Amino acid sequence: MASTRAFPDGFLWGTATAAHQIEGGCWNNDWWRWEHTPGSGCVEPSGDACDSWNRWRDDVEVLAELGVGTYRFSIEWSRIEPEDGEHSRAALDHYLRLGEALLERGIEPTITFHHFTTPRWLADQGGWVEPRTADRFAAFCERAAAHLAPVMRRACTINEPNIVATMGYLLGVFPPGERDRDLRRRANEVFVDAHRKAVDAIRAAAPGVPVGLTLSMDDYQAVDGGEAKRDQIRRSMEDVFLEATEGDDFVGVQTYSRSRIGPEGRLDNEEGVPVLPMGYEYWPQALGATIRRAWEVTGGSVPILVTENGIGTDDDAQRVAYLRSALEGVLDCLADGIDVRGYVCWSLLDNFEWAFGYGPRFGLVEVDRTTFARTPKPSARWFSQVVRANALVD
Ligand code: GCO
Repeated sequence: MASTRAFPDGFLWGTATAAHQIEGGCWNNDWWRWEHTPGSGCVEPSGDACDSWNRWRDDVEVLAELGVGTYRFSIEWSRIEPEDGEHSRAALDHYLRLGEALLERGIEPTITFHHFTTPRWLADQGGWVEPRTADRFAAFCERAAAHLAPVMRRACTINEPNIVATMGYLLGVFPPGERDRDLRRRANEVFVDAHRKAVDAIRAAAPGVPVGLTLSMDDYQAVDGGEAKRDQIRRSMEDVFLEATEGDDFVGVQTYSRSRIGPEGRLDNEEGVPVLPMGYEYWPQALGATIRRAWEVTGGSVPILVTENGIGTDDDAQRVAYLRSALEGVLDCLADGIDVRGYVCWSLLDNFEWAFGYGPRFGLVEVDRTTFARTPKPSARWFSQVVRANALVD
């Protein structure tokens, strides 16, 4: 059995975060404003988050203890371009220093250029339903990629554009809080255009750095004749984006759970399946299922990198069980010949979980909300053993 539990040589291990969820004080973007908008549904503001803007060296220390090969973090557009056309060299230098410190520890920076947050000035000019936003995003990517090229080892253009479009323009639970099917369709189109333009911009500014999109995927399961409905949902949630990854260096698969779809739409959680603080089911099998689906839709033409997977829970033993099952799924995919290049766990730290605030804890590392002290959990030690062995250890 032992050999089947080993990952291929060179398999990339990492953990991920996002600027707004850990830095603190990201007041100049649309999310901060949303957190302070009565009726938005946010349970609390992000505030100081994990104070990673100041304590990034502490983050590098815990990453080095984990022994991971990469750290996926995002750069905050509203710091780098605080007003339309006005740029902060100091903000870019901040991320350059983070990148240098990571490389000194043998950790490759994987940089995300947009992770949910948009500068206020851009949101005020139409945000992601305004076609010109794609060009503005590409211009931002070009500038930032040129500055960060010396340290950037992998680039993710847009994190989960499907979630921003659907939550923000169809379901009204992310900024700008719209509920309009047509706006969601337009946002999908602008995001696809922005991704393609960003790939070109990053490749031009940082030649040789692999570039890809990261997509939120769901293990969509048709129940009682729900096939047509499932396909319809999956089309605008996943397929339009997977098809837009043609020619990319990787596709980032991100998944957490499953959704059961009946003929009328999404069904309630199934009785008997544990429900997590996020409201969805404990379903680690989602990872293997979504990797297979991404591979199928792209015709096996784009290598897969798991750029996020994890669990929000107060039960750290449940985290280990979840990660173990999910990684079994990755091993099965590899055994079937699917080109999975690595696994990046969400998240390094307990952090700001958007509208849910600081309730759900996704971190391998706990963060004290008063002192900001970082304390690795038992799951961090377990994950570190897996990383160092490059195999699923007991
Ligand atoms: C997402 C984001 C992360 C979340 C994570 C847990 O997938 O929504 O990329 O920012 O924190 O997924 O919900």
